[in-house]
Amino acid sequence: MSEIFRPARPSELPEIIRLMTHSFPAPTRTMSWWEETLVGNPYGGRDPLWVGEDDGRLVAACQLYPREQWIGGSRMPVMGLGAVAIAPTHRRRGLAGRFVSAGLRRAQERGDVASALYPFRISFYERLGYGLAGEAHQYRVPPEALPDAPERAGVRLADSDVERAALRKVYDAWIRGQTGQMHRSTDAWDRVWESTDVSAVVYRGEKGEAEGYAIVRYRADLPSAERYLEVEERAWLTSAAQRGIYAWLSSLGDQWRELLYRAHPGEGFAEIVRDPRMPWGSAPGWGLWFPSATLLRGPMFRLLNLRAAWEMRSVAAADAMTLGLEVVDEQVPENGGSWRLRLEQGRVEVTSDARGSADTTLSLSIGALSRIFIGDLAPSAAVAAGVATAGRSDSLPLLDRLLYLPRPWTYDRF
Ligand SMILES: CC(C)(COP(=O)(O)OP(=O)(O)OC[C@H]1O[C@@H](n2cnc3c(N)ncnc32)[C@H](O)[C@@H]1OP(=O)(O)O)[C@@H](O)C(=O)NCCC(=O)NCCS
Repeated sequence: MSEIFRPARPSELPEIIRLMTHSFPAPTRTMSWWEETLVGNPYGGRDPLWVGEDDGRLVAACQLYPREQWIGGSRMPVMGLGAVAIAPTHRRRGLAGRFVSAGLRRAQERGDVASALYPFRISFYERLGYGLAGEAHQYRVPPEALPDAPERAGVRLADSDVERAALRKVYDAWIRGQTGQMHRSTDAWDRVWESTDVSAVVYRGEKGEAEGYAIVRYRADLPSAERYLEVEERAWLTSAAQRGIYAWLSSLGDQWRELLYRAHPGEGFAEIVRDPRMPWGSAPGWGLWFPSATLLRGPMFRLLNLRAAWEMRSVAAADAMTLGLEVVDEQVPENGGSWRLRLEQGRVEVTSDARGSADTTLSLSIGALSRIFIGDLAPSAAVAAGVATAGRSDSLPLLDRLLYLPRPWTYDRF
């Protein structure tokens, strides 16, 4: 066995597509669909195809997409891992683990400070240092369950270039205050508008400025009794825009019996929606309790360059402390060992010299640290869950406050 992991050569595309058709078979995925998917990279950047050979045969392929993710107001270069395919003759011998590990080091060397993905199985990627990093609450309610409001008059269809440009501007401003969303190029937006079943609206405030939007999918592909309106994305910069978007959705009840809406955990959607109750029989209740929403998870996140990522990470400016870290990282050993993080004046200074004193020290895996970094897990919650140990637990409430970020979520999929 002689394994080599390396960037793909352009001439290898047909062979990579053959590999992909074994790992992701579907009648609609033709050669040209795969070509477009693998070569067309709407987010731009360097060539992302990564392959593995065994004794000269191509047996592994995946995408190391160059992406940029917004985390606590900073735009970070992140590798989006996608389409990991191992030849059906080479499974269950650790090849995917070794292949992805080599891809992580490759991405770190090209300057990516972290990586994001959607897992086929959580435990597989946890072993490779990723941690869960995203949560959405999925509601199924009739449109009338949302409140109407006068701001509904400010909602217009985004079917012109002008309105779509305004929508994009809202997204670009909104992602700065969110955590986990991806920066989108013009090509990435073009891909959103390519979908024939997607529509969008923009909310314009009293002064005519775009302040919010919703992108929806008309699920007319389903049998008529099961059709619903799916809200793919929503974003707002003002509470008037939020009211306007909810009010617009509330007005669609004569056409759509049901809305599928994914709320951010911090959105307070259960307070806004009337009778937040899932359709009868769709999930088990608990005695007189009824199911209200489905908890969705999906995105995972991993630090690739601990020092560079933390030096880009904003922290609360109100206080200061020195955090010691004892990190285990099997795939990217440079991240392992002892670190000192000085959290002060809203930023982080990182040193690998562990001799100085620290207010507390966390001992943890790179996966747990990654979840803390992106705001999915507070340090005290990590200690309570047993995924980290703390030298002094009385410093944890301060550390929680310093590292607080809005819970992460990600709309883009790859
Ligand atoms: C998912 C996929 C990439 C895994 O590839 P793989 O090379 O079989 O994966 P690995 O061998 O590295 O790991 C799989 C499991 O086998 C185990 N394993 C490794 N060597 C083994 C061996 N000699 N004997 C038995 N099991 C072994 C690994 O420990 C791992 O289990 P764990 O995660 O529970 O610890 C492959 O099945 C595939 O291409 N599937 C279809 C496409 C897909 O779903 N891709 C992922 C979506 S992005």
